[in-house]
Amino acid sequence: MVDLDQLVSEAKQSFSSTSDAVALEEVKAKYLGKSGLLTEMLKGLGKLDPDSRKTEGAKINAAKSAIEGALQERRQQLADDLLQARLSQEAIDVSLPGRGRGVGSLHPVMRTWERVEEIFHSLGFEVAQGPEIENDWYNFTALNSPENHPARSMQDTFYVEGHDSKDQSLLLRTHTSPMQIRFASNAVKTHLNNYGNLDDMPDIRVIAPGRTYRVDSDATHSPMFHQVEGLWIGKDVSFAALKGVYTHFLKSFFENKELNLRFRPSYFPFTEPSAEIDVAFPSGKLAGRWLEISGSGQVHPTVVRNMGLDPEHYIGFAFGSGLERLTMLRYGVDDLRLFFENDTRFLSQFPA
Ligand code: DAH
Repeated sequence: MVDLDQLVSEAKQSFSSTSDAVALEEVKAKYLGKSGLLTEMLKGLGKLDPDSRKTEGAKINAAKSAIEGALQERRQQLADDLLQARLSQEAIDVSLPGRGRGVGSLHPVMRTWERVEEIFHSLGFEVAQGPEIENDWYNFTALNSPENHPARSMQDTFYVEGHDSKDQSLLLRTHTSPMQIRFASNAVKTHLNNYGNLDDMPDIRVIAPGRTYRVDSDATHSPMFHQVEGLWIGKDVSFAALKGVYTHFLKSFFENKELNLRFRPSYFPFTEPSAEIDVAFPSGKLAGRWLEISGSGQVHPTVVRNMGLDPEHYIGFAFGSGLERLTMLRYGVDDLRLFFENDTRFLSQFPA
């Protein structure tokens, strides 16, 4: 008679010497398979007399379940080992920063754009936007820019092939000033349509921020840049109002009540008199210098006429400021090209 204890410990040994599930199932067949050792033994019981059959049967069954138990244990262990191996192979370092998309933020020039809108909105100015492909009338002629004005030359202006329906030549607008004419003449036309006269027409107060284009490129000029145009026309809008509005704007924009402003005589075809607005910071890196920030002036009578208004009765001011320039001064950026390179090392310094 086989020593069953011996058989059980031999089975356990061979189970534990297997290194994977396939090998284990092969070894299992030797003991528990259809013609395995224990199966054969159980078959052999038939030859015994009933009493020994009972006692031997019980012993064999006990050995069988001990082996089955050992098999089950080994299966579990191999499965656990496999899982552990996979886990350590696929280990992730949860302390590494995530690879999700970074949180975006507004481009610094767009921040300025929004800031400018907010400030002028609080002063009762509407915000308007116009086409970037403009025609000769709105960009130059209506603004009293003479035929031979240097801004019209091929060096300064991006002309677009073809003409519009009024046979006007087309160009990428060189400034936001055409919006003065577009917005004011539209307001005048609408009021006339509705009321038949201009008696009670409210003042026209608008800013028009947007992209502008010139053939220009260096540390302080870019072929595409942003401007904001401002216009206030009414029956009694003085140059003093320009000074008041623009001073309030700049002090709010730079969050500095101590700013000094200077209105320096200048020339623009669309204003008379015209002034360049300079600003001086009381402290900081830029202290003590006059920095040019905007063109401005009292709207020229010819331009008022081109808005559909009688310059004998309507008067006002306009200004045009560069948004990049405002942004550079606010944040201390000294190269304009940084705004257009989209280097995130620069842009991420302006978090949301
Ligand atoms: N359009 C001028 C420019 O691009 C800026 C400007 C000057 C706008 C005087 C104005 C103004 O409205 O009154 O250089």
